[in-house]
Amino acid sequence: MTLTAQEKQELIDLANTTRQRAYAPYSNYAVGSALRTKTGHIFTGVNIENAAYPHPMCAERVALFQAVSEGEKEFEAISVVTENGGSPCGGCRQGLAEFGLDTLVLIANREGKLLKELTVKELLPEAFTPEKLDR
Ligand code: THU
Repeated sequence: MTLTAQEKQELIDLANTTRQRAYAPYSNYAVGSALRTKTGHIFTGVNIENAAYPHPMCAERVALFQAVSEGEKEFEAISVVTENGGSPCGGCRQGLAEFGLDTLVLIANREGKLLKELTVKELLPEAFTPEKLDR
């Protein structure tokens, strides 16, 4: 199923609203994300930091982990909103790749403007995927 432009914008707007709940007192870089399953359910996430600086959790993986812990494994698209349109980190790309290389990634800025639209495969070429462990 392909998302309409309106559905994409809704996923971005939801991530942007969610972004207000980011807990990022150390970096002051708030990130919001919204992950849409193939059945149309949506899970959100924000980045969550703590005083031990090297151990934050990214917004995208919070959304992904929420979804997986609710039994979801098939994803259509994920939106990521930051103040300046930053793209998902390597760890988040790997986390998304686990569940499908075709998931669409919508990258937007604080105005909710879609800046880039890529698949996980495009963001993480030559990904190490679960099949690689079939020896
Ligand atoms: N961050 C995310 O939430 N997602 C990313 O893909 C990149 C980085 C967060 C982690 C940290 O809380 C802050 O942004 C600065 O790195």
